[in-house]
This record gives sequence, C-alpha cells and structure tokens, in this order.
Amino acid sequence: MIETYHFQDTDFQQESSRELTLLSIISQSYFQPFSLEDNILLILTALTSGSGVGFNRVMYFRRDGNRLRGEVWLGPRSPEEARSVWEVLSTPGIGYVEIVEHNRALLSVNEDSLTRRIRKLTFPASGDPCPLPGAAACHREIVLVKDAAHEPQVDARFLEMIGVDEFLCLPLLARDEVLGVFVLDNAFTHNPIQTRDVKLAAICGLLAANYIHTTNLYRRLVETEKMAAMGEVAMFITHQIRNPLVTIGGFTDQLLEEGCDQDKQRRNLRIIRNEVRRLEDIVYNVGHFLKVSLKEPVYSDVRTALEAAVRIGEAEARARGITFQVKMEKDPPLVFCDPATLGEVARNLIDNALEATPAGGKVTLHAHRGRDSRSFMLSVHDTGQGISEAHKEKLFQPFFTTKEQGMGLGLSFIKRVMDTCGGQVEVRSREAQGAHFLLSFPSREERSPS
Ligand SMILES: Nc1ncnc2c1ncn2[C@@H]1O[C@H](COP(=O)(O)OP(=O)(O)OP(=O)(O)O)[C@@H](O)[C@H]1O
Ligand SMILES: [Mg+2]
Repeated sequence: MIETYHFQDTDFQQESSRELTLLSIISQSYFQPFSLEDNILLILTALTSGSGVGFNRVMYFRRDGNRLRGEVWLGPRSPEEARSVWEVLSTPGIGYVEIVEHNRALLSVNEDSLTRRIRKLTFPASGDPCPLPGAAACHREIVLVKDAAHEPQVDARFLEMIGVDEFLCLPLLARDEVLGVFVLDNAFTHNPIQTRDVKLAAICGLLAANYIHTTNLYRRLVETEKMAAMGEVAMFITHQIRNPLVTIGGFTDQLLEEGCDQDKQRRNLRIIRNEVRRLEDIVYNVGHFLKVSLKEPVYSDVRTALEAAVRIGEAEARARGITFQVKMEKDPPLVFCDPATLGEVARNLIDNALEATPAGGKVTLHAHRGRDSRSFMLSVHDTGQGISEAHKEKLFQPFFTTKEQGMGLGLSFIKRVMDTCGGQVEVRSREAQGAHFLLSFPSREERSPS
C-alpha cells in the first residue's frame, strides 16, 4: 500500500502541537508566492499565534550595514485586540492568504502606534559597548532578559518603548551573517518565557534567517543576470551599428573632398541613405523588442491574420525561386492568441524558413487542429540548411543570430508569445536536412465566448 502526502497543506490543523504548527507555517511560507516582506510577516505571525501558547508580540529589527533598524512590530495593542487576533488565527480552516491579509490590515492599523515607533530605533549591530537588543546581534547569542528595569545592559529608550520586564532577543543567523534580531514578549498574558519557548523560538529564528538569506541571494542573482543581459544587448547594438556608421563616415568624407563629381556624389549619397535605413531598422527592432508588451491573449478567429502572413510569404518565395506550399484548415477553431500577434509569429517563421532555404527548395506551412480538440497547430517546414545541435540550444535567446543582417529577435519574440498564451514550441532539425518549427496554441471550438 502507498500513502502520499502534500508538502503544502494550506489549512492548519487545530489539533497539531504548537511546535508543529509553528514550524509548518514557517516552512510552508517558503512555498508561497508572497513577497519577502509578507513572508516575514507570516513568520512573525507564527511566532505570535495561539492564545497563551505563542508569544504575544514580536519586533523585527533588520540589519542595515552596521546597524539594526526597527522594521515591524507585530502584535495587538490591547488585551481585547489580542483576544480578537487570536480568535481569527484559531478559526478552523484559516490559510496563508487570510493570515497575510489579516496581518497587512493589522500593520496598517499599527502603523500609527507600534511599528511607527520602532522604525525610529536603531542600534549598533557590532562593536562594544553594544546595548540590548543590539547585543544579541553583536555577540550572536540568544538573550533572555528578566527584570529589565534593573538590567543596565538594556537600552533605556528601548525599555521605555517595549514597556515589559521580560523579553527575548533572538539574533537571525544565516551562515556567518547576522541579518537581524527578533524581540519577543508576552505583554498581555504575562506568561513567563520558558526554556522550551526559547528553544522553539531559536529554531524559528534560524529558519527565518536562512529564508531571508536565500531570498537576498536570489534577488542579487536576478540583478546580476539583468546587468549581464543589458551588457549583452549593449555589445550587440554596438556591433550592429558599427559597420553602417563606418560606411557613412567614409562615404561622407569622400563627398567633402574637392573635385568629387556628380556621379560619385549621387552614388555615395545612395549608399549613405541605405546605411541610414539600416540604422533605422536596428533602432526600430531593438526598441520594438524592448518595449513591446504583448497583448493579452483571447480566443480569436485568426484566419485573416494568417492569410495576410501567407500572402507576404508567397510573394517573397516567388522572388527567391522557392516553392511555398500552404495547407490551412478552412474553418479553424478559436485560437488563444491575439490575431495580429499570431500573424507576426507566422511571418517570423516564414521569413526564417525562406532565409534558410536556397532557390529551388521548398517551404511548407500547415495550420490545423491538433490531435486533441483543445489545440491548434501552426507548423513551418523547410528544406534549407537545418540547425546544428549547438545552435538549437540558443535559438530562442534574444540576439542569437547567424545572419549578417539578422537581429536574432524573431524566435525570442515567438517564445514570449507562446509563454504568454500557454502554448508550446518544438523544433525538429538536422544540419543540412531542413528545419521544422511546430507551434501548438490552446484553442476551443465555440464561436462565441461562453
Ligand atoms: N528555419 C530555420 N533554418 C535554419 N536556421 C534557423 C531557422 N530559423 C531560425 N534559424 C536560426 O536561428 C537564428 C535566430 O532566428 P531569429 O528569427 O530569432 O533571428 P534572425 O532570423 O537571425 O533575425 P531576425 O531578428 O531578423 O528574425 C537564426 O539566425 C538562424 O541561425
Ligand atoms: Mg528571423
């Protein structure tokens, strides 16, 4: 017999132990598509949920350079509010979405009081002397403060703000970094903080810190990748515009030379005009690629758009001496794609096929229902030079091109379109044996939207 379980149980089991509930909320928050801030809020909620068993309030100090900055103070402002919060959190079937919404609402109310007050607080996160709660970060240790009013290590401003005698300072440690400090207390129930509370909070702190650490690393990686991509774009554009610019410069110099006859002047001006057009094309294509945000896909009749793309292809094929064969269903289903966008997709595929195929070759376009009744296939097949294995991997990357005048934007545009409408692209090709691009779009039969 086999039993399977989900990692992501969205409801919290009321009968689970407090420890399990806490760890479950924290570990499952990693799967949620919420922002770092929302997920931290979830973790803070986990630490403060449950009447009489969780901590009543939690402060989060974020590490910012050499200092700790007050970021969030989560918790009720009065025993009545505490009771209502605990009631919400112990509602059977409550899930993450409700908790996040509830916390956002609580924070906006508290913005005037709790959180706004601690946002003014900063403490050194290293060095000596280091008053509490900063000392937890400086010495990387968990500090339980009892009888705070008589403890000289506690910062006086902080003591006045927190207004309790007992609290726990928990450094957020990830590898060798301290990312912040949680300060927890039981301001309303006045339950003494027990050793088991400290141990449980310590595990939560470690999980939270490592989550923050991973998220920070991920954000940095995304930034680095963006910078690298921008660098590549810049290099590509530089490379593309260099030749036309050099040509324009050279032929303009000749025009300025004395004794340049009229024929030569006209020839040079024609060359210059062609190069300027080439530059205009480059600027248009890059601008189009960077700016174009795709239209929302809707189930559409794509016949007219496809026929227009085919007509242009036929003229181009004739001019190149290539046979262009088209097999299109007369009554295609509604296709989940903006029609003009689908027309552009078809044009890019046809252009590529014609550019790859020598005179005397053949290009075939098929547009028909897929085997199931929910897809529409657009395929373009050619008898051209084919695609090597090494190139196959790069085909859909922006700016990948093997053509002297190519921009390498056609297939990356197609990929974006297919991702947006939830379709798929398949490429079948062997070097010197032609290429076959197969696109599958979601589709449906009804003529009027239901
Ligand atoms: N049918 C095909 N046969 C062989 N190679 C192809 C075919 N289609 C695409 N390729 C390869 O993929 C590369 C990228 O194609 P893509 O359409 O993205 O850019 P491009 O055609 O080079 O430039 P453009 O931006 O003008 O379309 C091409 O340069 C070519 O090497
Ligand atoms: Mg192309």
